[in-house]
Formats: sequence, structure tokens, C-alpha cells
Amino acid sequence: MSTIKVAILGFGTVGEGVYRILNEKKNEIKLQTGYTIEISSIVVRDVTKNRIETPGIKITDSIQDVFADPDIDLIFEAIIGEEPAFAYLSKAISKGINVITANKAMFAKHGPALIKQAENQNVQIGFEATTAGGVPIIRTLKNLLQADRVQRIQGILNGTSNFILTKMRQDNVPFEVALEEAQANGFAEADPSDDIGGKDAFRKLMILSDLAFGRQPIWEDIQINGIDKIHSDDVSVATEKGLRYRHIADISIDENGIPSGSVGPVLIGPEHPLYGVDGVDNAIIVDTEYLGALTLIGPGAGMYPTASAMISDFLHIVGKREKVLIPS
Ligand code: NDP
Ligand code: HSE
Repeated sequence: MSTIKVAILGFGTVGEGVYRILNEKKNEIKLQTGYTIEISSIVVRDVTKNRIETPGIKITDSIQDVFADPDIDLIFEAIIGEEPAFAYLSKAISKGINVITANKAMFAKHGPALIKQAENQNVQIGFEATTAGGVPIIRTLKNLLQADRVQRIQGILNGTSNFILTKMRQDNVPFEVALEEAQANGFAEADPSDDIGGKDAFRKLMILSDLAFGRQPIWEDIQINGIDKIHSDDVSVATEKGLRYRHIADISIDENGIPSGSVGPVLIGPEHPLYGVDGVDNAIIVDTEYLGALTLIGPGAGMYPTASAMISDFLHIVGKREKVLIPS
């Protein structure tokens, strides 16, 4: 029986989720793919932190421990920020290691370069988890684009914002209390300012723009607003009028192929398709030339939804193993 050897970068909400699913599903994965998965190392920032037991796995703060092992087939990356994540993944690809990332801050900026590098090296790159958590929007877009043309994408792309807005409306909870709950659930980033300030949704929109339109707009041209200026009173007044705040990211392409968009809170009524999307759910409406409007809804953040998107990428890559992985 062959083995696929992997490393996990980051062991917070998402990295731990990947570890848990790989463990919980190891027999199914073996049956489905024919391969045993060996997690050789986990890279973190602080090796002294208390964590769940991971028997037989090296916990290290040095990426060199991963690169020193010539048998690593694939890296799951779930650390924070553009760097050192980009440098790590670029180096991994240059060594012929397949990569799967959840890191949208890194991928919005460096995704196009990494995809190109991966193509040149004939290795696989998975980024389903970067956008909308467990909602399979990346794979759906890739499938749609084979026979159709995307004209517009609009959606709720930040689970934390939607969770807070929902809590404020349904439970009359103050903004700060709802944010604390989102953090406790692992939905919000360690520093939640990009969640509530709109930048997180903006980055996901840029990843979708790249995929759907083959390019991103000039970042400075996009107006980015968050939910951080919405008060409980605003929510109450809207609710009395039968309206709801949603944080919506929107991008479309003009006849010259130029994308433009916006990110911010919008008041919508019951006729709007995003009116009923509550809690941590994300929703994406994709308008295409032939299919028309397609809406995907599901959990947009959290340990298992996000990790499941990474495992889905993993199984997709393992399905191509004969072509892209060197048997160990
Ligand atoms: P956490 O803050 O829970 O965990 C981050 C992990 O990364 C920690 O284990 C931390 O180490 C490690 N880490 C951070 N910087 C470095 C570094 N320079 N070198 C090595 N390890 C590092 O974050 P999440 O798990 O929530 O998120 C991980 C990534 O996934 C982020 O990019 C996030 O934006 C993205 N994401 C998160 C989702 C979610 O629902 N939480 C959903 C989709 C994407 P240590 O434990 O020692 O501090
Ligand atoms: N903090 C992000 C959110 C995680 O709330 O949507 C998922 O990308």
C-alpha cells in the first residue's frame, strides 16, 4: 500500500480541523483512494502552546524541517498573513510539492503567481478554502467556466459579519458581544478588523474575480466598507421596516472586459435572494451568460467547514496522483 506524506502549516482553527478530518476519515480515505496518509510534521509559531495530542507527529516552528524531508508530497497551509506563507508555498512548489491553502490574505495577492508557478512545475494547487469556507464556489466556477461566461458575482463572503448582523437582529445582542461570540466559535480572524472592516470579503472577491474574469480590478478602485459602523439602533429601525442589513461583495465585468465592484453593507428587502441567509452562512450568486443565476449557500467559516474544503481539494489532487505525486 502506498503512502502520501503531508505536512500541515498552522495548527489553529483550520489546521487542527484538517488534522482531525484526516484522522477521523483515514480508513475511508484509504478505501476511497488506496493510499495511507501520513502526517509527518506540523509547523506552528509557538511550539510551547498547549494543543491536542498528535501522536507520532513532529511539532516544529521551522519550515526547514518540512523541506528537509524529500518524501513530502503535499502541504496544507493555514497560517496567517501574506508572509511567510507566500515564500513557503512558492518554495514548496519549486520543490515539486503540491499545496492546498486556506490563506486568502496571501492568495488574493499572490494567487495568480502561485497558480502560474504550479502550472510550470506541473504540481497541483488547491484554494477552495480561501473563499466562502465550506461552500464549493471555486470548483463550481471552474466547472461553469468550461462552457459558460460569468457576468457578475455578488455575495455574502464574510461569515463573521453575517453572524454579527444576525445576532444583532435576532437576539438584540450588542455588536461587541456578537463579535466575541464569532471569535469564540473560530469564525473571526485572530485580529478581526479585516472581518468587520470589509477587507476580508474584498480579498475573497478578488480571488473570485481572478478566477471568473481572468483578472482583478485595480484594488484602489474598489470602495470597501465594513459592518463596523452599524449600531444596534440601525438594525432595529431596519427590522421595523422589514429590511435587513447584509454585507455584500459585488463584482461584474463590462463589455470591454474590465471588472468593477464594491464591498459594503446594504439594506435589502424580502424579495432579495440574500435576505434569508443568516448566521455564519455565506451565499454567492453567480450570473452567467447561459445558465442564468446560480446561488450557493452554506457555512462560510469555522473549523470543520473550512477544513472540509481543504480535504476536498486533497481528494481531488489524490485523484490525479498518478500524474502529479511521486509515490513514496
Ligand atoms: P488561527 O489563528 O486559529 O491559527 C493560525 C495558526 O497559524 C496557529 O497555529 C499559528 O501558530 C500558526 N502561525 C501563524 N503564523 C505563523 C508563522 N509565521 N509560521 C508558522 N505558523 C504560524 O487561524 P485560523 O486557523 O482561523 O486561520 C488560518 C488561516 O486560514 C488564515 O489565513 C485564515 O484567514 C484562513 N481561514 C480561516 C477560516 C476560519 O474559519 N477560521 C476560514 C477560511 C480561511 P501558533 O498556534 O503557534 O500561534
Ligand atoms: N474570518 C473569516 C470569515 C473566515 O468570518 O468569513 C472565513 O474565511
